[in-house]
Amino acid sequence: MRFLTKKIDENNSDITVTYIFENCKNDSELYKYLNEQTNGELEKQIYQYKTIKGGLSETYKFSINENKKIIVVGLGKKENLTRLKFSQAIASAARCAKTMTDAKTIGFELIENKNECDCNYSNFDKADAAKIIFSSARIGLYSFDKYIQDRKSSIETIEILDNEIDSKIEYGAQIGAYTSYAMKFAKDLVNESAQIVTPNYVAQIAQEIAKEHNLDIKIYDKKQIKELGMNAFLAVGQGSVNEPKFVHLTYKPKQQPRKKIALIGKGITFDAGGLDIKPATSMLNMKNDMTGAASVLGIIQAIAKIEADVELHVISALCENMPSGSAYKQGDVLTAKNGKTIEVDNTDAEGRITLADALCYADTLNVDEVIDIATLTGAVIVSLGTNITGVMGNNQKQIDKFIETSKKSCENTWQMPILDELRENLKSDIADMKNTGGRNAGTSTAAWFLSNFTKSGSWLHIDIAGTAMADKLNKETQSGPSGVMIRTLINYIVS
Ligand code: BES
Ligand code: MN
Ligand code: ZN
Repeated sequence: MRFLTKKIDENNSDITVTYIFENCKNDSELYKYLNEQTNGELEKQIYQYKTIKGGLSETYKFSINENKKIIVVGLGKKENLTRLKFSQAIASAARCAKTMTDAKTIGFELIENKNECDCNYSNFDKADAAKIIFSSARIGLYSFDKYIQDRKSSIETIEILDNEIDSKIEYGAQIGAYTSYAMKFAKDLVNESAQIVTPNYVAQIAQEIAKEHNLDIKIYDKKQIKELGMNAFLAVGQGSVNEPKFVHLTYKPKQQPRKKIALIGKGITFDAGGLDIKPATSMLNMKNDMTGAASVLGIIQAIAKIEADVELHVISALCENMPSGSAYKQGDVLTAKNGKTIEVDNTDAEGRITLADALCYADTLNVDEVIDIATLTGAVIVSLGTNITGVMGNNQKQIDKFIETSKKSCENTWQMPILDELRENLKSDIADMKNTGGRNAGTSTAAWFLSNFTKSGSWLHIDIAGTAMADKLNKETQSGPSGVMIRTLINYIVS
């Protein structure tokens, strides 16, 4: 996909996208230009015949001639427009464009949003809009068509159309383009069969990324993982014929880094549950249990491209959680890298065990912040559903900044508590803690468990079990991997 910015009179795109509000008239330069091209017919259709009313994400296709088309997309009521809604409308226009076969270029009008109440950072300037257009259009256009013979989208170029593109807008657009690449990368890797995406495969991909972006990389095999003392992680993977790998990629800026961040992605390339095997319906999506790993591998590429002034360590403990004769067992006591012991109460709560060692490893890197992103608990789906991501941590400032950034990045997050009361859930008679307890407060309990394995005073935990896969309720992307939190994390890291 190519991403370009252009002046309005240079517009040559096959499809041009303009907007209408439900309750006020569009009189932008691009709209006027398009209306002239249609000899006033566009205006008649919208405001006289009311062919489209302007409800959020409503779309209307208009042909100027055989090759040139217009999509009008509704933005709802002007005073209600937010970044998230704008993003949904852009994605909706892109999905509409996807159905117009043969179109190669889609150009979007660039707008800004200034409302009296900037509630929850809903206002945006043109630089923000440029970022949103590139990433959201790409999300709308996305489909995993590698294995489908005749359903490929023809669009190759996304353009932003405006007469006053300045360096700030260009920078926003650039971040948007790199972000969209990171999201596509992650979605593709999650969509790919677990038969192909083994720990070793992901490690090879990481190797290629390192080469392409000139990053430092360490890949530890089973023996080296043992030498590093990551025996808890090792236990989870021991039931599979595909051996575990531990990956550590480092991006270093040319200048002195403003700060250092370790970003850990849960990397269970398939979660069958282990001996506590999952029922068939729960196992169906479990190739997605490496979404965290795929996301962080996408993010580091964007950060390298942006040449951010932050040192970024991307870490993933990669393995499969399988039942077999060699699988780890209920009642086993495992010792993590920091010496703490874990009684295995349920082999299906494997993510937290692998993350425990990854968190200990991150402690050796001398970073300012540690962040993990994981498809960790089914309980977060019960609490927050499929469109809101659970955020926890031990530093309220960091949590606040992250949640603020998510609002600016068109993503929904909500904080959940980590309190010492949760300790009771995981009391063990024979080890420092069990890996699971009762059903109550599953998401927070998992986070409390993790908190035992980091020394960082700025540790943030993101549970994407509910949001990693888009369902019908998702207004931006086709069902499947959503690329959730990639936008937020990139914006968080660069700001
Ligand atoms: N990978 C799952 C969590 C998950 C569930 C992700 C649904 C996406 C959708 C995790 O490893 C798991 O199995 N968690 C268990 C923990 C339980 C045994 C305490 C769960 O949430 O059911
Ligand atoms: Mn599991
Ligand atoms: Zn899992």
